[in-house]
Amino acid sequence: MQQNVAGILQSDKFSQEVHLKGWVRTFRANRFIALNDGSTIKNIQCVIDFEKTDESLLKRITTGAAIAVTGTLVESLGKGQSVEIQVSNIEILGDSNPEKYPIQPKKHSFEFLRENAHLRVRTNTFSAVMRVRSALSFAVHKYFTENGFYNVHTPIITGSDAEGAGEMFQVTTLDLTNPPKKEDGKIDYGQDFFGKETNLTVSGQLEAETYAMALSKVYTFGPTFRAENSNTTRHLAEFWMIEPEVAFNDLDANMDLAEDFIKSVINYVLENCLDDLTFLDKRFAKEESTKPAQQRSEFSLLEKLKFVVDNNFKRVSYTEAIDILRNCKPNKKKKFQYLIDEWGADLQSEHERYLVEKHFKCPVILFDYPANIKAFYMRLNDDGKTVRAMDVLFPGIGEIVGGSQREERYDVLLEKIKTLGIDEKELWWYLELRKFGTAVHSGFGLGFERLVQFTTGMGNIRDVIPFPRTPQNAEF
Ligand code: 4AD
Ligand code: MG
Repeated sequence: MQQNVAGILQSDKFSQEVHLKGWVRTFRANRFIALNDGSTIKNIQCVIDFEKTDESLLKRITTGAAIAVTGTLVESLGKGQSVEIQVSNIEILGDSNPEKYPIQPKKHSFEFLRENAHLRVRTNTFSAVMRVRSALSFAVHKYFTENGFYNVHTPIITGSDAEGAGEMFQVTTLDLTNPPKKEDGKIDYGQDFFGKETNLTVSGQLEAETYAMALSKVYTFGPTFRAENSNTTRHLAEFWMIEPEVAFNDLDANMDLAEDFIKSVINYVLENCLDDLTFLDKRFAKEESTKPAQQRSEFSLLEKLKFVVDNNFKRVSYTEAIDILRNCKPNKKKKFQYLIDEWGADLQSEHERYLVEKHFKCPVILFDYPANIKAFYMRLNDDGKTVRAMDVLFPGIGEIVGGSQREERYDVLLEKIKTLGIDEKELWWYLELRKFGTAVHSGFGLGFERLVQFTTGMGNIRDVIPFPRTPQNAEF
């Protein structure tokens, strides 16, 4: 196998010949190349003998160039590294352009880097974030596999609106300039590719439920799409969601699963990505220090992660939460943008963050929400007005998980679908699950990018996915 920087930095096989390929981060004093190949946040120092190196070649060693080096591994006398490479041969694989290359070795704004999303992963911050993202994704599959779950690939194109929010991207092959029409003037989707109206999925839940009703424990982890026009630091139009669904689990078991799962994947990166997290911890501290004192995080990034792993999430009913919010200072002093005055109010992110960051000071699971602010599939409680919903709220993020126990009673579900005016014909198969061997079951959805945001301490969700899709932006 080709050697990489991560492996060589850990090696103590001095005097051995090594071969490396990577990109020049910096080149100083015509002698010291900082080489990075993405295998680690660290660069390896490659020392060249400029007297023996062609001047025309020296000129081509510039930031961003792709090079191959051969040399011997030696102990380093320089500060900041224990080993370095004494280069015997260097080859330029691909030139850069020192005048035009956007990623110069200096601080760039995230805004600028978003405009250069094809190159931003060549910076320390983005390479660290994307390695952590990859590790988290692996940890997700590891957790579920080790706990007896099956991975189900639910469809990307669907005919149903799982969340009933109507915020969907339509999928069509009809000619938009001249679509076929029915007699009543409406578009004739019978002539569309699938013979019906279809959209990109907002959630794989409904299909995952069908598989849970046979395989008992399943999860889906795929892209989901929402055409909500929210320009916030926590919303994307295309994001990845992890959705486990478990037969015979009630809401308590669902909360246990969510908590155990989140702790497990965060613990995995603490154990396996410490170099990157240490770098991100410093970046986080620097960014926090620029904020006004009251807005600064009390914890460092690493402390936050350890706190989540080591402490129980606080479980609080919606009704208790409303009492707390109604009587809290920012509500009484009218500091909230949306004031809470009665039971039934939908919680905004400012309320969720107050509960987590100011009141409980730990992750919170809110449960038993009013039925009319939640989706149609959630199980109705005996009080007739709340449903077995749960949201996991995280510091700095707000809602990271939304889930519920599902309505498993055919009549109750059908009634709900009718009341909400949802087309029951579209959900015939979903209703049939309640006719044949129905059972209590529960699941949740965790927004993967919000998890990556929390774990890496990045303030904007656009900086934790390679190519963010947001309103008015689908570049790259
Ligand atoms: O709360 P949501 O809408 O729940 C569902 O879609 C359920 N069907 C999940 C289930 O029970 N299987 O979304 C789940 C999570 C949210 O808690 C949030 O973390 C994330 O998905 N999310 C978004 N992340 C980024 N951008 C958006 N626009 C998001 N919308 C939701
Ligand atoms: Mg939600």
